[in-house]
Amino acid sequence: MNYQTFEHDVIVIGAGGAGLRAAIEAATQGATVGLVCKSLLGKAHTVMAEGGVAAALGNVDLRDNWQVHFRDTMRGGKMLNNWRMAQIHAQESPARVNELEAWGAVFDRTKEGKILQRNFGGHQFPRLAHVGDRTGLEIIRTLQDHAVHQKNIEVFMECTITHFLKEGNKICGAFGYRRVTGEFLFFKTKAIILATGGIGKSFRINSNSWEYTGDGQALAYKAGADLMDMEFVQFHPTGMVWPLSVKGTLVTEGVRGEGGILKNSKGERFMFRYVPPMFKGEFAETEEEAKRWLAGDKSARRPPELLTRDVVAKAINAEVKAGRGSPHGGVFLDIASQRDVETIRKKLPSMYHQFKELANVDITKEPMEIGPTCHYIMGGIRVDAETGAATVPGLFAAGEVAAGLHGANRLGGNSLSDLLVFGRRAGLGAAQYAKENSSIKADTKQLDTCATELLKPFNQKNGENPYEVMDQLQKMMDAHVGIVREEKELQKAIDSLAQLKSKVKNVKAAGDRTYNPGWQTCLDLENMLIVSEAITRAAMERKESRGGHTRIDYPESSAEYAKFNFVLRKKGEEMRVEKEPLPKMPAALEILIKEGTT
Ligand code: FUM
Repeated sequence: MNYQTFEHDVIVIGAGGAGLRAAIEAATQGATVGLVCKSLLGKAHTVMAEGGVAAALGNVDLRDNWQVHFRDTMRGGKMLNNWRMAQIHAQESPARVNELEAWGAVFDRTKEGKILQRNFGGHQFPRLAHVGDRTGLEIIRTLQDHAVHQKNIEVFMECTITHFLKEGNKICGAFGYRRVTGEFLFFKTKAIILATGGIGKSFRINSNSWEYTGDGQALAYKAGADLMDMEFVQFHPTGMVWPLSVKGTLVTEGVRGEGGILKNSKGERFMFRYVPPMFKGEFAETEEEAKRWLAGDKSARRPPELLTRDVVAKAINAEVKAGRGSPHGGVFLDIASQRDVETIRKKLPSMYHQFKELANVDITKEPMEIGPTCHYIMGGIRVDAETGAATVPGLFAAGEVAAGLHGANRLGGNSLSDLLVFGRRAGLGAAQYAKENSSIKADTKQLDTCATELLKPFNQKNGENPYEVMDQLQKMMDAHVGIVREEKELQKAIDSLAQLKSKVKNVKAAGDRTYNPGWQTCLDLENMLIVSEAITRAAMERKESRGGHTRIDYPESSAEYAKFNFVLRKKGEEMRVEKEPLPKMPAALEILIKEGTT
């Protein structure tokens, strides 16, 4: 078989925020870098983090600092977070945001000319540096511009990585194909950084685009790396529910950050009824107090629409189930009654256009219809907090594909700061590893096996239609492993996954290797199955409710389950779920969480 061969010290797979930041850092350290993107450079789920990047700059409220950010992140993650990652993240985010500004990011400004910050769910103070409702886009634009000016980064667009090569237990290469031509690619390397993002496409209603099929998680798992916390999937409370063609499209949390309120079909502002015990006393209890907060009264508590995403999504789900939903199966999100037209159009320009063009709704005059949409996975590849190293030598991960920072639930805005902080650290870690390890000669016999596997869908005689199999998988995951779960439903999912596995083995691609989306779907399906199985098996084992994982047969959080994460490992053909005790948090940080800070 023919392959194009490339050689770099470090290969970065995925070119969203984490991948770009990692590539910049590795290149700055002197490594030669191959940056491989499944799609076009700059097209990444990072742009869907619209409302802002969380960093305790304290520009709008002087009471903010890294300690409060750390506490909010841990409490938002229901204490399953890797404490060290949460600490590093809170401490380093301000420097990463300032650095972005120095690289050309144009954030909104306070009157004094500082970076403006807005409120977001679960953040005690206005903490999200933003660019209207296009923050992710501005961050990608800035990083992309910086990356393409580094002389030792080579970009490979529209290339899919399907296999890793190892020599002994060490990573030594990656194999894949170029979508435009169908030719095979071999990347010889010392270290790989995975920055492939999430798994949203395993669910039917999601905010992700076609690339997010769990590739990084699946590649790492197959290479022997640990996955962790896979049961924790984030359903963003506000996705569009109508028209059907755009169902799931994100409606930024920035709408609630700017004062948007949630109402049911009876006109009730229902979130007042859903404040969980952990947050009792911290949120406004009356409309009158919420109004004072909106008017800038610092003695008023935050409105309950700014509770964490897990809480708000479950509340919406409960209202719809109780028959108090909107005509298209969501609830109402209303900013028109809270802010004037000029503010809405200035602070939420994309939302204004999105609703006007896609749904013929003018959000400055009428409420939006919204409902939960699969947005993010807290779980992923288990990594070292300092370096982003996975449990396989030579493999690193950063951003959504990595686990640990967010625990059982992520706070909005913490993904953008995550990818900046840990993208940089993974870049450093991988460059250092590459310096210390000489390149390994990959056994090229492995390449023929990889190529044969890739071509298998073309050789099926009466194979399955990959789009139909994908549709079945997504519907099944929505039905049995969605916002609320229970044992009998999860068992149905496990049984269905076994059936889908045999179908995936037989998927068939028509046509040839050039620009063939059917073939691409055949290849994506294996990854989607692996991550779906990991989510389902971990969800089955966690017999409690916590953050993004709700079991109606175990509705409470359990003190016992607060002691460990679930780790998934490949043992032969079997996926094992094992308990991993949480690392011990230093006493000084424990006190910070219990007592807060002033
Ligand atoms: O709602 C949003 O703007 C999304 C932000 C995030 O996921 O961090």
